[in-house]
Amino acid sequence: MYTRHLGLVDFRSWTSAELVLTAGVNVLVGRNGVGKTNLVEALGYLATLSSHRVASDQPLIRRGADQAIVRAAVVHDNRELLLEVAITPGKVNKARLNRAALTRPRDLLGILRTVLFAPEDMALVKGDPSERRRFLDEVLVMRSPRLAGTKADYDRALKQRNSLLKSAGIARRSGRSDLSLLEVWDEQLAGHGAELLAARLELVELLRPHVVAAYADVAPESVAADLRYRSSLGEALPVVAGGVPSAADLGAALLADMGRLRHAELERGVSLVGPHRDDLDLILGPGPAKGYASHGESWSFALALKLGGFGLLRSDGVDPVLILDDVFAELDRSRRNRLAALVADADQVLITAAVDEDVPGVLHGSRVSVQQGIIERVGSETVDDPEDVGARSAQEYTVDPPGSAENTAVDNTAVDYTAVDYTAVDYTAVEDTAQSSDRG
Ligand SMILES: Nc1ncnc2c1ncn2[C@@H]1O[C@H](COP(=O)(O)OP(=O)(O)OP(=O)(O)O)[C@@H](O)[C@H]1O
Ligand SMILES: [Mg+2]
Repeated sequence: MYTRHLGLVDFRSWTSAELVLTAGVNVLVGRNGVGKTNLVEALGYLATLSSHRVASDQPLIRRGADQAIVRAAVVHDNRELLLEVAITPGKVNKARLNRAALTRPRDLLGILRTVLFAPEDMALVKGDPSERRRFLDEVLVMRSPRLAGTKADYDRALKQRNSLLKSAGIARRSGRSDLSLLEVWDEQLAGHGAELLAARLELVELLRPHVVAAYADVAPESVAADLRYRSSLGEALPVVAGGVPSAADLGAALLADMGRLRHAELERGVSLVGPHRDDLDLILGPGPAKGYASHGESWSFALALKLGGFGLLRSDGVDPVLILDDVFAELDRSRRNRLAALVADADQVLITAAVDEDVPGVLHGSRVSVQQGIIERVGSETVDDPEDVGARSAQEYTVDPPGSAENTAVDNTAVDYTAVDYTAVDYTAVEDTAQSSDRG
């Protein structure tokens, strides 16, 4: 699949941006701080409904604006899909697919598939277990969107159960205790948790060979990498030779462990067992990567996780859009060339770089120059349609120079989600030449 067009309103530094992309390699080049990562972050948001840089939505909204809009035209199987999300911190986000409103934003998940690798991904190796759980769940949901619902149900049950554990713990210490309500939430947590756990265990089995191979490709001189899912069930995790335990068995094991941990849970007021306490062990040679791996090894491992995710999604039959944010500057020449060779044949690769020379020449493709307020196609060796001469013409868009965001006189009512004039963003009619009239 590939993204043909990305449109932003009040996202990060962009007051408005329209970016035309081609299948194959697209390199976005521009000085530090001009908004390159902001562009690819927006595309990642459409795929995952979260940012790879921040946990909350607020920083995604341009300073001074109330709402950001991200849209993309995505081509898959010769069909074009229009995805759109309006991000309004503190309120419910809204999403549209082919201009029709969706009941919930999460109904967008799984439609656009992306794998984004960025410097922030070092946290996959060096950071908390939550980083690795997030990575697993992102791949999981991309492959099976219904699991987004399971995860939401699990998170809700966990929240309820934790607050109940707190109040029941207090009641018990004062001599009153009725744990019957808690048992209802035990069942809920174990049920949704078992489904999530079974899916993660299966995912790690499938992902493992892809990650192992990707690490060997990225760092052939290093010892071998490996993965292991670490469940908070520990020894109580049911084992099935050559397979994954059933959700029923996992649910029973979770319930039994909750029984065993009842006292400690009431004491501490938190749920001590379940997928929210699990981790993905990253192993390098004889031991864990975390705490031992060198900077280069950690970096290679983080990249291998993402490339492994890409490989698994590709093996499902659809190439996700591969996004490499600021990656090549980190690498020496031989590693640059190795990475380039690994990604060159993806349906679509979006690369950001401050310096064009950092991107190996084998990654021929569209070059897009990003400057303050201007996105300009500077050359394209893979224009799909030879008639598409417009692909070489300049397009200009508006962006706030650094520090000026608050001062910009933007009429926020003009970007009221409900008031957006969709005829003005008729993607089917988008042509590079037509967009120059958008300059602001
Ligand atoms: N919510 C926001 N409102 C306005 N400006 C923002 C917002 N969030 C980030 N910015 C600005 O966006 C700019 C950073 O953009 P971005 O990270 O995309 O740069 P970049 O082109 O990727 O740079 P680099 O080459 O250094 O990675 C910064 O100047 C930052 O102040
Ligand atoms: Mg950047």
